[in-house]
Amino acid sequence: MKDRRPLVVGNWKMHLDGAGAERLAGEIRDGLPPGASVDVGVCPPFPYLCRVSPVLKGSAVALGAQDGHWEQQGPFTGWVSMAMLVDVGCSSVIIGHSERRQFGRETDDEIGRKVRAGLDQGLGVILCVGETGPERDAGVTEAIVARQLSGALEGLASRGIRGLVVAYEPVWAIGTGKTATPALAQEAHQFIRQWILGRLGSDVAQQVRILYGGSVKPDNMRALAEMPDIDGALVGGASLQASGFLDIVRQAAAGKG
Ligand code: 13P
Repeated sequence: MKDRRPLVVGNWKMHLDGAGAERLAGEIRDGLPPGASVDVGVCPPFPYLCRVSPVLKGSAVALGAQDGHWEQQGPFTGWVSMAMLVDVGCSSVIIGHSERRQFGRETDDEIGRKVRAGLDQGLGVILCVGETGPERDAGVTEAIVARQLSGALEGLASRGIRGLVVAYEPVWAIGTGKTATPALAQEAHQFIRQWILGRLGSDVAQQVRILYGGSVKPDNMRALAEMPDIDGALVGGASLQASGFLDIVRQAAAGKG
């Protein structure tokens, strides 16, 4: 759809140090093509949000976090609330990343609470879904993605969902160098949009941006972005170098051009 602006977000995961995070943010800010028809964001580790925030303030690069708790405050040792993220300058948050589902044992129910808490705070929520390799081999990709979507988005119809973004990240493609082919990714994205159409209506389905994530590189971004239901990318490893990340941003814009 022509009126969905492409979005490219760098997920820095647990990488970099404070100085490196500041430098990378500054390089991305300064290297963005002027007037680019693409939205761009970066998600540094929690301790560096306060350092990166002033670097990006007033720029076209949005600051995001990699997770957030559903409660606003309270006895939750080690957690960070959505209100705190807003307070330090974040405008978006990643929720339900497969690394948190897998290593943090996050459930669909917890992810749903986080999605609602993020949206309630006015954050753009990037909800991650995707199947593992064995699940794809077993032919249950759509059932898995549908379960993840319903766990996270059930009961959302009455709430403001303007800030919702979905990222389709097949687990077998994350950090492996094995990217989903554009056709395979398009199939999953189309399924996600149809699911949203059925549950949340056509306005939401037309407007929600669905990003692809999993070994996105400058040389595969364009073909992915040319697919009608792929609205950009959530980039891990290739977002840690400004030049490559900026190249991905340009290719995303070109693919939608
Ligand atoms: P890679 O781009 O390193 O495969 O990571 C993708 C990802 O998990 C983004 O959230």
